[in-house]
Amino acid sequence: MASDSASTFLWGGRFSSGLDDLMIQFNESLSFDKCLCHADIRGSITFARALQKLNIITEDELNQITTGLKKVGEEWDNGTIVINPKSDEDIHTINERRLGEIIGTQVAGKLHTGRSRNEQVSVDMRLWARSQLEDISSTLKEALKVFTAKAKVTLPVLMPGYTHLQRAQPVRFSHWLLSHATFILGDLQRLSGVQERVASCPLGVGALAGNPFGIDRDFMAKDLGFPSVHPNSLAAVADRDFVVDILQWASLLMVHLSRLSEDLILFSTAEFGFVQVADAYSTGSSLMPQKKNPDSLELIRGKTGRVMGQSSGFLSSLKSLPTSYNKDLQESVEPLVDCLKTVSDCVKITTGVVATLDIRPEKMKAALTADMLATDVADYLVLKGVPFRETHHMAGSVVRKAEEQSCSISELSLDHLKEITPLFEADIKDVFDFERSVEKRTSKGGTSKACVLEQIDSIEAFVSK
Ligand code: ARG
Repeated sequence: MASDSASTFLWGGRFSSGLDDLMIQFNESLSFDKCLCHADIRGSITFARALQKLNIITEDELNQITTGLKKVGEEWDNGTIVINPKSDEDIHTINERRLGEIIGTQVAGKLHTGRSRNEQVSVDMRLWARSQLEDISSTLKEALKVFTAKAKVTLPVLMPGYTHLQRAQPVRFSHWLLSHATFILGDLQRLSGVQERVASCPLGVGALAGNPFGIDRDFMAKDLGFPSVHPNSLAAVADRDFVVDILQWASLLMVHLSRLSEDLILFSTAEFGFVQVADAYSTGSSLMPQKKNPDSLELIRGKTGRVMGQSSGFLSSLKSLPTSYNKDLQESVEPLVDCLKTVSDCVKITTGVVATLDIRPEKMKAALTADMLATDVADYLVLKGVPFRETHHMAGSVVRKAEEQSCSISELSLDHLKEITPLFEADIKDVFDFERSVEKRTSKGGTSKACVLEQIDSIEAFVSK
């Protein structure tokens, strides 16, 4: 069923019949691109300034346009803007319509001179994404501050370190926590590369071929705070690489948050009991009164799939597009908006969970078993001059002997040990000490106190710069 609304659209001039009703809804993007309202207004004010520099509009007209656009911005802020679902197609058209209603179409009608929505949507998305990414960067720094603060207060706490999810060697709890902080630090470092690529200004390229009035693109980029100008008009309107960059960056960040979540979910089970997630980040069961579930962490783990899906989904939308602008590109807005909200929420929730995490040092200690010191036994023999490959074998024999004797390796008598190699002496007793084992790992990046403090220092230095 076609409405006769074609003439009410900005582009309606060459159309004789209206849009199908479903097509109106199918085509609109205002429902999700309205978050670009202020970016759109900023871009338009800059464009008007550039038009004034060309004397296409007068200084007075520039003032009217600027004042009018600011009023439109206020209407968005206080919720008084009235959307016409039949004719307000996107954020660009509604802002232009309202401007016309506020200052009159004679002057408002000049704003779009030489400008296309193809460049407009790209500049809006980039402006919006830049401010979101700045917020997310601060949020990540806050997260790292919480991680290092927690690592400091838990410095004495030892826990089993795992490989293959099997008990491997003792480590500091703080060292484990900082392993996750290290991944987040990498995300922050990668983010600055992404931010650089987002900050390329497409304004002034027209629909695809360039601007015929000699608009000053360098001026506009500078006015909007972009360090560089997009170099090719055809590419500029087709370019959503910055969206792919963000989605892929976000996917890896989410993978990191998900892996931390998975660890914490496991550690919070009764089977481990190493940590308890605060009530503020847990929920109960509607059926089982005893349950306290780590929903916060499960949601982060679950939302990781959503962000990864947005990344591969949008890449698929891009892959067969012909040169320059195609409407398919509108499909970049929703994943971008949703992804950045998801990431921001997930980082904040992670920060809250870690800040309020109740840790159980006695449970971690109880999970430390002497067999986790078998490598230290091998290292003991290395210091007696035996090649490691042989000491590894001998330490294996110690583990086997303890199994035969139904005791732990630290409970074997010196006589038993000497049956394996006479190199064992009374000082082997000193090896069976978890704190000592941890403190021996003094090389950079190790789990000794000094090394953990060094990691804390370097993360703190990065965050404060
Ligand atoms: N809402 C559109 C988008 O997000 C704006 C560009 C429309 N351009 C056009 N030629 N129809 O891509």
